[in-house]
Amino acid sequence: MNIRKVCVLGGSGFIGRHVVHLLCAQGYSVRIIARRRERAKALAMLPRVELVELDVDDSAALTHALAQQDAVINLIGILHERKRDRDFERVHVALPRQIAKACDVNRVKRLIHISALAAEPSAPSAYLRSKAIGEKVVAETGAKSQWRYTVFRPSVVFGAEDRFLNLFATLIKFAPIIFLGSPKARFQPIYVQDVAEVIVKSLSLSESFGKSYDLCGPERYTLRELFEFVCHAMDKRRMILNLNDYLSYWQAWWLEKLPIKLLSRDNYNSMKADSVCDCEFPSIFDIRPKSMQAMVPDYITGLTPRMRGRQRLDRSGR
Ligand SMILES: NC(=O)c1ccc[n+]([C@@H]2O[C@H](COP(=O)([O-])OP(=O)(O)OC[C@H]3O[C@@H](n4cnc5c(N)ncnc54)[C@H](OP(=O)(O)O)[C@@H]3O)[C@@H](O)[C@H]2O)c1
Repeated sequence: MNIRKVCVLGGSGFIGRHVVHLLCAQGYSVRIIARRRERAKALAMLPRVELVELDVDDSAALTHALAQQDAVINLIGILHERKRDRDFERVHVALPRQIAKACDVNRVKRLIHISALAAEPSAPSAYLRSKAIGEKVVAETGAKSQWRYTVFRPSVVFGAEDRFLNLFATLIKFAPIIFLGSPKARFQPIYVQDVAEVIVKSLSLSESFGKSYDLCGPERYTLRELFEFVCHAMDKRRMILNLNDYLSYWQAWWLEKLPIKLLSRDNYNSMKADSVCDCEFPSIFDIRPKSMQAMVPDYITGLTPRMRGRQRLDRSGR
Protein backbone atom coordinates (compact mmCIF):
# COMPACT_ATOMS: atom_id res chain seq x y z
CA MET A 1 0.00 0.00 0.00
CA ASN A 2 1.50 3.33 -1.03
CA ILE A 3 1.02 5.92 1.73
CA ARG A 4 2.50 9.38 1.22
CA LYS A 5 0.01 11.87 2.65
CA VAL A 6 -0.89 11.48 6.30
CA CYS A 7 -3.37 13.54 8.27
CA VAL A 8 -2.72 13.70 12.03
CA LEU A 9 -5.49 14.61 14.46
CA GLY A 10 -4.12 15.45 17.90
CA GLY A 11 -0.72 16.29 16.39
CA SER A 12 -0.21 19.12 18.88
CA GLY A 13 -0.29 16.68 21.82
CA PHE A 14 2.52 14.85 23.60
CA ILE A 15 2.50 11.68 21.46
CA GLY A 16 1.29 13.57 18.36
CA ARG A 17 4.36 15.82 18.25
CA HIS A 18 6.65 12.76 18.19
CA VAL A 19 4.54 11.13 15.47
CA VAL A 20 4.65 14.28 13.32
CA HIS A 21 8.44 14.62 13.69
CA LEU A 22 8.94 10.98 12.72
CA LEU A 23 6.60 11.21 9.72
CA CYS A 24 8.51 14.27 8.49
CA ALA A 25 11.87 12.59 9.02
CA GLN A 26 10.65 9.68 6.88
CA GLY A 27 9.52 11.94 4.03
CA TYR A 28 5.73 11.82 4.46
CA SER A 29 3.59 14.87 3.71
CA VAL A 30 1.72 15.70 6.90
CA ARG A 31 -1.50 17.61 7.45
CA ILE A 32 -2.07 18.47 11.10
CA ILE A 33 -5.61 19.24 12.18
CA ALA A 34 -5.57 21.43 15.29
CA ARG A 35 -8.31 23.25 17.14
CA ARG A 36 -5.80 25.95 18.13
CA ARG A 37 -3.16 26.89 15.54
CA GLU A 38 -1.02 28.32 18.34
CA ARG A 39 -0.53 24.87 19.93
CA ALA A 40 0.95 23.35 16.77
CA LYS A 41 2.80 26.41 15.46
CA ALA A 42 6.29 24.95 15.98
CA LEU A 43 5.36 21.82 13.98
CA ALA A 44 4.26 23.92 11.02
CA MET A 45 7.94 24.91 10.52
CA LEU A 46 8.84 21.30 9.66
CA PRO A 47 9.24 20.36 5.99
CA ARG A 48 6.11 19.16 4.16
CA VAL A 49 3.83 20.01 7.08
CA GLU A 50 0.53 21.78 6.55
CA LEU A 51 -1.43 23.05 9.53
CA VAL A 52 -5.22 23.28 9.34
CA GLU A 53 -7.12 24.94 12.17
CA LEU A 54 -10.67 23.69 12.62
CA ASP A 55 -13.29 22.55 15.07
CA VAL A 56 -13.36 18.75 14.72
CA ASP A 57 -16.99 18.70 15.85
CA ASP A 58 -17.86 20.43 12.57
CA SER A 59 -18.32 17.26 10.49
CA ALA A 60 -18.44 19.03 7.10
CA ALA A 61 -15.17 20.86 7.82
CA LEU A 62 -13.59 17.63 9.09
CA THR A 63 -14.63 15.71 5.97
CA HIS A 64 -13.24 18.49 3.79
CA ALA A 65 -9.95 18.48 5.73
CA LEU A 66 -9.37 14.76 5.08
CA ALA A 67 -9.59 15.20 1.29
CA GLN A 68 -6.74 13.63 -0.70
CA GLN A 69 -5.15 12.02 2.34
CA ASP A 70 -3.86 8.42 2.15
CA ALA A 71 -3.95 7.83 5.89
CA VAL A 72 -5.38 9.34 9.07
CA ILE A 73 -3.89 9.01 12.56
CA ASN A 74 -6.29 9.86 15.39
CA LEU A 75 -4.54 10.82 18.63
CA ILE A 76 -7.28 13.03 20.03
CA GLY A 77 -8.11 12.11 23.61
CA ILE A 78 -8.81 13.62 27.01
CA LEU A 79 -8.29 12.44 30.59
CA HIS A 80 -10.81 14.75 32.25
CA GLU A 81 -14.32 15.67 31.23
CA ARG A 82 -16.74 18.41 32.07
CA LYS A 83 -19.67 16.16 32.97
CA ARG A 84 -22.40 18.36 31.58
CA ASP A 85 -20.76 18.31 28.13
CA ARG A 86 -20.36 14.50 28.06
CA ASP A 87 -16.85 15.06 26.74
CA PHE A 88 -15.72 11.41 26.89
CA GLU A 89 -18.61 10.34 24.69
CA ARG A 90 -18.03 13.27 22.31
CA VAL A 91 -14.22 12.93 22.02
CA HIS A 92 -13.71 9.15 22.32
CA VAL A 93 -16.85 7.83 20.59
CA ALA A 94 -18.66 10.42 18.43
CA LEU A 95 -15.43 11.83 16.99
CA PRO A 96 -13.95 8.46 15.88
CA ARG A 97 -17.34 7.71 14.29
CA GLN A 98 -17.16 11.00 12.43
CA ILE A 99 -13.53 10.41 11.39
CA ALA A 100 -14.45 6.94 10.11
CA LYS A 101 -17.24 8.45 7.97
CA ALA A 102 -14.93 11.15 6.65
CA CYS A 103 -12.39 8.42 5.72
CA ASP A 104 -15.16 6.64 3.75
CA VAL A 105 -16.13 9.78 1.86
CA ASN A 106 -12.52 10.62 0.98
CA ARG A 107 -11.50 7.05 0.11
CA VAL A 108 -8.69 7.15 2.68
CA LYS A 109 -6.66 3.91 2.73
CA ARG A 110 -5.59 3.71 6.41
CA LEU A 111 -6.94 4.77 9.78
CA ILE A 112 -4.72 4.44 12.87
CA HIS A 113 -6.62 4.92 16.10
CA ILE A 114 -5.01 5.42 19.51
CA SER A 115 -6.97 4.01 22.42
CA ALA A 116 -5.69 3.02 25.88
CA LEU A 117 -4.63 -0.19 27.61
CA ALA A 118 -7.36 -1.71 29.82
CA ALA A 119 -10.12 -0.04 27.80
CA GLU A 120 -13.02 -2.50 28.18
CA PRO A 121 -16.81 -2.08 28.13
CA SER A 122 -16.87 -3.15 31.79
CA ALA A 123 -13.82 -1.09 32.90
CA PRO A 124 -14.10 0.76 36.23
CA SER A 125 -13.84 4.31 34.77
CA ALA A 126 -15.86 6.33 32.26
CA TYR A 127 -12.58 7.19 30.47
CA LEU A 128 -11.72 3.52 29.82
CA ARG A 129 -15.30 2.55 28.93
CA SER A 130 -15.54 5.39 26.38
CA LYS A 131 -12.19 4.38 24.87
CA ALA A 132 -13.50 0.80 24.52
CA ILE A 133 -16.60 1.98 22.67
CA GLY A 134 -14.43 4.17 20.41
CA GLU A 135 -12.29 1.13 19.49
CA LYS A 136 -15.43 -0.85 18.69
CA VAL A 137 -16.76 1.93 16.46
CA VAL A 138 -13.49 1.96 14.49
CA ALA A 139 -13.34 -1.84 14.18
CA GLU A 140 -16.99 -2.25 13.16
CA THR A 141 -16.93 0.60 10.63
CA GLY A 142 -13.54 -0.52 9.34
CA ALA A 143 -14.85 -4.03 8.65
CA LYS A 144 -17.38 -2.56 6.19
CA SER A 145 -15.14 0.11 4.63
CA GLN A 146 -12.40 0.40 2.03
CA TRP A 147 -9.87 1.64 4.61
CA ARG A 148 -7.83 -0.66 6.80
CA TYR A 149 -7.58 0.19 10.46
CA THR A 150 -5.10 -0.50 13.27
CA VAL A 151 -5.79 0.27 16.93
CA PHE A 152 -3.04 0.88 19.50
CA ARG A 153 -3.65 0.56 23.25
CA PRO A 154 -0.66 1.96 25.15
CA SER A 155 -0.08 1.78 28.89
CA VAL A 156 1.03 5.08 30.39
CA VAL A 157 3.51 6.83 28.07
CA PHE A 158 6.73 8.46 29.31
CA GLY A 159 9.08 10.91 27.61
CA ALA A 160 10.69 14.30 28.10
CA GLU A 161 7.41 16.24 28.12
CA ASP A 162 5.15 13.65 29.74
CA ARG A 163 2.57 14.83 32.23
CA PHE A 164 3.06 11.95 34.59
CA LEU A 165 6.68 11.42 35.69
CA ASN A 166 7.27 15.18 35.34
CA LEU A 167 4.30 15.81 37.64
CA PHE A 168 5.76 13.36 40.17
CA ALA A 169 9.09 15.20 39.90
CA THR A 170 7.40 18.54 40.66
CA LEU A 171 5.60 17.08 43.68
CA ILE A 172 8.80 15.48 44.94
CA LYS A 173 10.66 18.77 44.52
CA PHE A 174 8.25 20.74 46.70
CA ALA A 175 6.60 18.28 49.12
CA PRO A 176 8.63 16.82 51.98
CA ILE A 177 6.01 14.08 52.51
CA ILE A 178 3.97 12.44 49.73
CA PHE A 179 0.49 11.18 50.64
CA LEU A 180 0.08 8.65 47.86
CA GLY A 181 -3.37 7.53 46.71
CA SER A 182 -3.78 4.19 44.87
CA PRO A 183 -0.15 3.18 45.67
CA LYS A 184 -0.66 -0.37 44.40
CA ALA A 185 -2.02 0.65 40.96
CA ARG A 186 0.07 -1.12 38.32
CA PHE A 187 1.59 0.26 35.11
CA GLN A 188 3.98 -0.87 32.39
CA PRO A 189 5.18 2.48 31.01
CA ILE A 190 6.19 2.75 27.36
CA TYR A 191 8.56 5.30 25.83
CA VAL A 192 6.90 7.90 23.62
CA GLN A 193 9.35 7.45 20.74
CA ASP A 194 8.58 3.69 20.69
CA VAL A 195 4.86 4.46 20.45
CA ALA A 196 5.50 6.94 17.61
CA GLU A 197 7.64 4.37 15.82
CA VAL A 198 5.02 1.59 15.85
CA ILE A 199 2.34 4.04 14.68
CA VAL A 200 4.42 5.17 11.71
CA LYS A 201 5.64 1.63 10.89
CA SER A 202 2.09 0.30 10.92
CA LEU A 203 0.99 2.69 8.15
CA SER A 204 2.06 0.33 5.38
CA LEU A 205 2.57 -2.89 7.35
CA SER A 206 -0.18 -5.11 5.96
CA GLU A 207 0.11 -7.63 8.85
CA SER A 208 -1.21 -4.90 11.17
CA PHE A 209 -4.35 -4.21 9.13
CA GLY A 210 -7.55 -4.86 11.08
CA LYS A 211 -5.63 -5.56 14.31
CA SER A 212 -5.46 -4.10 17.78
CA TYR A 213 -2.20 -4.00 19.77
CA ASP A 214 -1.49 -3.51 23.47
CA LEU A 215 1.72 -1.52 23.91
CA CYS A 216 3.88 -1.76 27.04
CA GLY A 217 7.46 -1.13 27.98
CA PRO A 218 9.77 -3.82 29.40
CA GLU A 219 9.08 -3.26 33.14
CA ARG A 220 6.09 -3.21 35.45
CA TYR A 221 5.81 -0.78 38.36
CA THR A 222 3.30 0.02 41.06
CA LEU A 223 2.49 3.71 41.48
CA ARG A 224 4.59 3.73 44.65
CA GLU A 225 7.54 2.19 42.80
CA LEU A 226 7.23 4.90 40.14
CA PHE A 227 7.44 7.60 42.81
CA GLU A 228 10.44 5.86 44.35
CA PHE A 229 12.02 5.62 40.89
CA VAL A 230 11.66 9.38 40.34
CA CYS A 231 12.94 10.15 43.88
CA HIS A 232 15.99 8.02 43.14
CA ALA A 233 16.54 9.64 39.72
CA MET A 234 16.38 13.08 41.36
CA ASP A 235 18.57 11.95 44.23
CA LYS A 236 15.92 13.06 46.75
CA ARG A 237 14.76 11.28 49.88
CA ARG A 238 11.05 11.65 50.57
CA MET A 239 8.68 10.01 53.01
CA ILE A 240 5.93 8.33 50.95
CA LEU A 241 2.79 7.44 52.92
CA ASN A 242 0.38 5.04 51.23
CA LEU A 243 -3.28 6.03 51.45
CA ASN A 244 -5.86 3.28 51.78
CA ASP A 245 -8.69 2.93 49.27
CA TYR A 246 -11.09 5.14 51.23
CA LEU A 247 -8.57 7.99 51.63
CA SER A 248 -7.42 7.60 47.99
CA TYR A 249 -11.00 8.22 46.87
CA TRP A 250 -11.35 11.34 49.02
CA GLN A 251 -7.97 12.65 47.89
CA ALA A 252 -9.17 12.32 44.27
CA TRP A 253 -12.47 14.00 45.19
CA TRP A 254 -10.60 16.91 46.73
CA LEU A 255 -8.07 17.25 43.89
CA GLU A 256 -10.94 17.21 41.38
CA LYS A 257 -12.14 20.52 42.86
CA LEU A 258 -8.86 22.33 42.09
CA PRO A 259 -8.81 24.66 39.06
CA ILE A 260 -5.76 22.73 37.70
CA LYS A 261 -6.78 19.18 36.85
CA LEU A 262 -4.30 16.90 38.61
CA LEU A 263 -6.48 13.90 39.44
CA SER A 264 -10.18 13.12 39.29
CA ARG A 265 -12.33 10.37 40.79
CA ASP A 266 -12.55 8.93 37.29
CA ASN A 267 -8.72 8.75 37.13
CA TYR A 268 -8.81 7.05 40.54
CA ASN A 269 -11.30 4.53 39.07
CA SER A 270 -9.05 3.99 36.02
CA MET A 271 -6.21 3.00 38.36
CA LYS A 272 -8.32 0.10 39.67
CA ALA A 273 -7.65 -1.65 36.35
CA ASP A 274 -4.06 -2.84 35.91
CA SER A 275 -2.40 -1.00 33.01
CA VAL A 276 -0.05 -3.89 32.22
CA CYS A 277 0.28 -6.19 29.19
CA ASP A 278 -0.51 -9.91 29.17
CA CYS A 279 1.69 -10.52 26.14
CA GLU A 280 5.10 -9.60 24.74
CA PHE A 281 5.65 -6.45 22.69
CA PRO A 282 4.29 -7.19 19.17
CA SER A 283 7.27 -8.57 17.25
CA ILE A 284 6.05 -7.46 13.79
CA PHE A 285 7.20 -3.91 14.56
CA ASP A 286 10.76 -5.06 15.17
CA ILE A 287 11.29 -2.71 18.13
CA ARG A 288 12.82 -3.41 21.49
CA PRO A 289 10.96 -1.02 23.82
CA LYS A 290 13.19 1.17 25.95
CA SER A 291 13.24 1.01 29.72
CA MET A 292 12.54 3.93 32.05
CA GLN A 293 15.96 3.37 33.57
CA ALA A 294 17.58 4.14 30.22
CA MET A 295 15.57 7.25 29.38
CA VAL A 296 14.00 8.96 32.38
CA PRO A 297 16.82 10.15 34.66
CA ASP A 298 18.17 12.59 32.07
CA TYR A 299 14.96 14.42 31.38
CA ILE A 300 13.76 14.40 34.99
CA THR A 301 16.95 16.00 36.28
CA GLY A 302 17.87 17.96 33.15
CA LEU A 303 21.31 16.32 33.22
CA THR A 304 22.96 14.81 30.15
CA PRO A 305 24.66 11.39 30.59
CA ARG A 306 28.02 13.21 30.51
CA MET A 307 27.00 15.63 33.28
CA ARG A 308 25.66 12.70 35.28
CA GLY A 309 29.00 10.85 34.97
CA ARG A 310 30.80 14.01 36.05
CA GLN A 311 28.49 14.37 39.05
CA ARG A 312 29.22 10.78 40.09
CA LEU A 313 32.96 11.39 39.87
CA ASP A 314 32.64 14.61 41.90
CA ARG A 315 30.68 12.79 44.58
CA SER A 316 33.28 10.06 44.80
CA GLY A 317 35.89 12.78 45.30
CA ARG A 318 37.81 12.09 42.05
N1 LIG B 1 -0.02 9.90 27.29
C1 LIG B 1 -0.38 8.72 27.79
O1 LIG B 1 0.17 8.26 28.81
C2 LIG B 1 -1.45 7.90 27.10
C3 LIG B 1 -1.68 6.58 27.53
C4 LIG B 1 -2.66 5.81 26.91
C5 LIG B 1 -3.40 6.35 25.87
N2 LIG B 1 -3.16 7.62 25.45
C6 LIG B 1 -3.98 8.16 24.35
O2 LIG B 1 -3.12 8.61 23.32
C7 LIG B 1 -3.69 9.75 22.67
C8 LIG B 1 -2.70 10.90 22.70
O3 LIG B 1 -2.33 11.15 24.04
P1 LIG B 1 -1.39 12.38 24.46
O4 LIG B 1 -0.71 11.99 25.71
O5 LIG B 1 -0.59 12.82 23.31
O6 LIG B 1 -2.50 13.46 24.83
P2 LIG B 1 -2.37 15.05 24.87
O7 LIG B 1 -0.95 15.49 25.00
O8 LIG B 1 -3.34 15.51 25.88
O9 LIG B 1 -2.88 15.48 23.42
C9 LIG B 1 -4.21 15.33 23.08
C10 LIG B 1 -4.45 15.94 21.72
O10 LIG B 1 -5.87 15.91 21.50
C11 LIG B 1 -6.32 17.23 21.18
N3 LIG B 1 -7.68 17.40 21.68
C12 LIG B 1 -8.15 17.10 22.90
N4 LIG B 1 -9.46 17.37 22.97
C13 LIG B 1 -9.82 17.86 21.75
C14 LIG B 1 -11.02 18.34 21.20
N5 LIG B 1 -12.15 18.37 21.92
N6 LIG B 1 -11.01 18.77 19.92
C15 LIG B 1 -9.89 18.76 19.20
N7 LIG B 1 -8.71 18.33 19.66
C16 LIG B 1 -8.67 17.89 20.92
C17 LIG B 1 -5.32 18.16 21.86
O11 LIG B 1 -5.38 19.44 21.25
P3 LIG B 1 -4.84 20.78 21.99
O12 LIG B 1 -3.37 20.75 21.77
O13 LIG B 1 -5.53 21.87 21.30
O14 LIG B 1 -5.23 20.62 23.44
C18 LIG B 1 -4.02 17.41 21.61
O15 LIG B 1 -3.56 17.63 20.31
C19 LIG B 1 -4.98 10.06 23.42
O16 LIG B 1 -6.05 9.46 22.75
C20 LIG B 1 -4.78 9.38 24.77
O17 LIG B 1 -6.01 9.01 25.36
C21 LIG B 1 -2.21 8.42 26.05
